[in-house]
Amino acid sequence: MCGIVGCIVKEQAGRVLASGLERLEYRGYDSAGIAVVTDDGIRVRRRVGKLAELLDDFDYDAFDGKVGIGHTRWATHGKPSEGNAHPIQDDTGDVVLVHNGIIENYKEIREELEGKGHVFATETDTEVIAHLISEIMQGDDLEGAVRETMRRLKGAYAIVVLHRRLPDRLVGARRDSPLVAGIGEGEYFLASDIPPLLEHTRDVLLLEDGEIVSLTPEGVRVTDLEGNTIERQPKEIEWNLLQAEKGGYPHFMLKEIHEQGVVVNDSLLGRIAEDGTVRLPELDMDADAVAAIDKIVIIGCGTSWHSALIGKFLIEELAEIPVEVDIGSEFRYRRSILGPSTLVLAITQSGETADTLASMRKARAHGARTISICNVIGSTASREADGVVYTQAGPEIGVASTKAFVSQLIVLNLLALHLGSMRGKITREASKEYTDELRAVRGRVETLIERADELDPIVDSYKHVDDFLYLGRGINYPIALEGALKLKEISYIHAEGYPAGELKHGPIALIEEKMPVLAVATPGETYAKISSNIDQVKARGGEVIAVVADDEANPPMGVDHLIRVPRCRETISPIVNVVPLQILSYRIAVARGCDVDQPRNLAKSVTVE
Ligand code: F6R
Repeated sequence: MCGIVGCIVKEQAGRVLASGLERLEYRGYDSAGIAVVTDDGIRVRRRVGKLAELLDDFDYDAFDGKVGIGHTRWATHGKPSEGNAHPIQDDTGDVVLVHNGIIENYKEIREELEGKGHVFATETDTEVIAHLISEIMQGDDLEGAVRETMRRLKGAYAIVVLHRRLPDRLVGARRDSPLVAGIGEGEYFLASDIPPLLEHTRDVLLLEDGEIVSLTPEGVRVTDLEGNTIERQPKEIEWNLLQAEKGGYPHFMLKEIHEQGVVVNDSLLGRIAEDGTVRLPELDMDADAVAAIDKIVIIGCGTSWHSALIGKFLIEELAEIPVEVDIGSEFRYRRSILGPSTLVLAITQSGETADTLASMRKARAHGARTISICNVIGSTASREADGVVYTQAGPEIGVASTKAFVSQLIVLNLLALHLGSMRGKITREASKEYTDELRAVRGRVETLIERADELDPIVDSYKHVDDFLYLGRGINYPIALEGALKLKEISYIHAEGYPAGELKHGPIALIEEKMPVLAVATPGETYAKISSNIDQVKARGGEVIAVVADDEANPPMGVDHLIRVPRCRETISPIVNVVPLQILSYRIAVARGCDVDQPRNLAKSVTVE
């Protein structure tokens, strides 16, 4: 997500930090900043926009010093602005730090510290860390203050901290967000990712969750939360720069598939109270406003439209509000019946898709309230909507959407639960049970990623076919659409997604010997129906790959391949079921020698009609 770099070097730290930030650019960011310890104290410069804004007229001589930190920010709390960019300081200016991740309990901590007289200057969650360290620090024990601060923070973070009174020290810490230390020749580095380290050293210490690292010109010391020293040998990194940007994965798409467990976690962070109630203050709608909704319209394009289709099932099931779904390019030109009691949800990863934006504008012009479910803070959709719920997937670089889709589904589950609770359709106990199951999705997704090799026989069998059919029913029909879209866009195999019940109304004519048909047949209302659709395919010589629950006692008969997935409740199952379909498409595309991250004719963000 955001990028961190820190260093203790023999020459100007500013130059090392600047080139380190350039190495982190590929991750996507909306603002950046550098802080260097100089003879006149810690100097900080922050700018919104591309690195050129920060670096083009950077006065390295004014920032002359050997210790410093830098950051590229991908906004999660607070808009992209100079004030919210990192490095962030406390109100004394003693503590200056950079942070990646999300602090779940920042509001409580902020209130507490404001009560003690701290004055906050930003809209970020990060600022509470600077104030807490300042509040806690005794004497010059920065490491101890960071350790104590970690005990107070809930959420995910990697931080690197400077202190005005300790000009030759950097302290870093991590939990659920990566941080690595680089060991050079009398020079030491910290970064969120390997690329900034590569031009200085290949010897790297990988830090674990709950660890604290102290850097001085004398060396690096790693300790745990109790203050015990941890002995760890550096690892030699053999990656080149491009491999390093992809975290060692051959493609961004694969890296992003692998990030999905963490994305599930991040999309839930801070949104579920201890009693299981969902918190979505971004909606800014009280119970009366929710009760007044008479219809919800969900709009999206491509993968985001598939999320919209799943959103309809979720909201109708959990909140009992009627939902219509539309593709952006259709909705914008259709006569629509909208009014002040219509809630329009616009789902968009980028927040810049032209047809989705035009649909939002149309909805607003009709007096409807618009909420954007969006991944990019500060994007057009996030600025133009009446409210915005961020998906927290982090920058998605692969053209084929994977982790953004999963994050959209998490948010839609939360939204449906929230609306259902506010309308009295979901009890607190039911919400608790449901949200506990949502938290368990991370483990299920990660299990499926670990078991990716089980898909290889399917890849081998079908990598050379020309056509593929995907079937699903109910809430998993959009997963059939998404599976087919993933396959066609990166492998160029013609693939169609269909609601399985429609088979007999036309597509069954396509079934002939060896035609591959992937059927999503996980537990749910229509399990028996889709089993019989599978029989119809088998009876006509088609080859069936069935996605079934791993404990399914009665898997469909005679199928050619089974993809086993962890069992979960039907409304949550799409999040789990999509994972093997993403991996299957990815592996087939790689086997066919396709350019997975840059498929032909496609752009990541479609900003024109
Ligand atoms: C498919 C894909 C596209 C996008 C679509 C909408 O893998 O990525 O279909 O989902 O272009 O983009 P956003 O969500 O940015 O509006």
